[in-house]
Amino acid sequence: MGATSTHDVLRFLNRPLVLRTFVVLLIIFTLVHFSNPIQEHADKAREKWQQWKEKPEHSEPQHISYTKPSNHTPPHRPRPPPAKPKPQKEVDEDCPVLPGLERLVITVKTGATEASARVPTLLSTSLRCAENVFVFSDMEEQVGELHVYDSLDTIKAPILDHPDFDLYKTQYKLKAGGTNIAALKGMDDPRLPGDAAWALDKYKNIHIVEKTWRLRPNMDWYLHIDADTYVMLPSLVHWLRSLNHTEPHYMGSLTSIGLLNFAHGGSGILLSQAATKNFIDIYDDTKAAEWDESTSKECCGDYMLGRALTETEAWAEDVAPNISGQYPATVPFGPERWCHLVGTLHHVSPMEAELLGKFERQRKDRSRPVSYAELYTDFMHDRISSGTVDDWENGASNIMVHASSAAECRHLCKEEPGCWRSMYTEDAEEEKCGLGTDFMLLGNPEKGRQSSWNRERFDEWIAEQKPCD
Ligand SMILES: *[C@@H]1O[C@H](CO)[C@@H](O)[C@H](O)[C@H]1NC(C)=O
Ligand SMILES: *[C@@H]1O[C@H](CO)[C@@H](O)[C@H](O)[C@H]1NC(C)=O
Repeated sequence: MGATSTHDVLRFLNRPLVLRTFVVLLIIFTLVHFSNPIQEHADKAREKWQQWKEKPEHSEPQHISYTKPSNHTPPHRPRPPPAKPKPQKEVDEDCPVLPGLERLVITVKTGATEASARVPTLLSTSLRCAENVFVFSDMEEQVGELHVYDSLDTIKAPILDHPDFDLYKTQYKLKAGGTNIAALKGMDDPRLPGDAAWALDKYKNIHIVEKTWRLRPNMDWYLHIDADTYVMLPSLVHWLRSLNHTEPHYMGSLTSIGLLNFAHGGSGILLSQAATKNFIDIYDDTKAAEWDESTSKECCGDYMLGRALTETEAWAEDVAPNISGQYPATVPFGPERWCHLVGTLHHVSPMEAELLGKFERQRKDRSRPVSYAELYTDFMHDRISSGTVDDWENGASNIMVHASSAAECRHLCKEEPGCWRSMYTEDAEEEKCGLGTDFMLLGNPEKGRQSSWNRERFDEWIAEQKPCD
């Protein structure tokens, strides 16, 4: 009986149609089975990235590697002519005089899918008065007056065959066909793990450092930022005047992966002339490309730059909050961060950049450094409500108490000496009310939270502070 069944099954399988169906089902099963972990991985990375975005100074970036094989052929890439070192933009006539600005180079790292949405705003606000600005992307473009450099054009096969470069090749094909690449935006965000533009982004940092030196060698300082970084030029230049560019400085808001401390890219990576020169002496344009292979196995470009710099014995120095991964709504204003200068901010939307640009233009003395005190008083103060805001998280939590309503929580803050903000969480178990006596913070929308601020009490604290000079 058993033997007959086996025999029957084999005969059944031997029928061509059945066999083919079986094989197809097996392939589908295998694909589904093996693609799920990849999807999960991407989802996890995206989630971690969101958390990192929210707390850029406190948690680590994720570690991702891609191992999918590929058999794409390298695209035909038109080689750009050797770049002429000329300023990428005209300097505004009503700019404040900032001695040292002419010796500072700023590079903006972007991607073809986001460039048009962010770069023009950045150039007309934060970088309006900067003298040496270079925009590096993953596709060479001319946008009006602005030349956008391809940071990846020295990358060679076999790295180019890696699936990370699929978007890169697609962009050039579409461009050759006359397509507006910005139409891809939304699908491909250089800041979202899993998005094709993000996979490409990590290859740029090392090449940007190398290419910038060729465009503008021997300058005093090199600041490398993203398209959503806002630089307060008067602060930055003021601070740089107190530093020695002939010493090898590699500075930023530090984060770490494993044992390596490195400057977080979005906050801004600041390199002195000496640090960049040491780097160039070791990594010329072929040596820089030797890192591409390792980059394909790691998560992040700022981390890879940190590794490359560390091998030239430039050690990352933490200069937060002069260089900061916060944006105005997440800045903890208070005793820890008050007269310090605001050199950079990160995750600044184009709309926020416009507002910051307006703030800068309206300052009485636009050449003085911007302190956190000034940013609070003239930019944040009026945006902070003196009432209660529903579905809002201001993060108040250094004292946790019980309350049965948002109104009670707000009242408890009033009773607590030094309480500047409170937050009521509807679905918390016991202690639904958080009080904040540590700093003032606006925060962000969040369902199920109710936030309030004691703005007047914070104003009293401000009145007691010595003016910042
Ligand atoms: C930030 O800049 C100020 C002003 O130039 C300077 O005194 C201070 O040392 C800098 N902070 C760090 C951490 O380098
Ligand atoms: C800057 O650093 C170099 C090298 O350490 C040193 O020789 C020079 O005197 C320093 N310059 C100033 C102004 O401190």
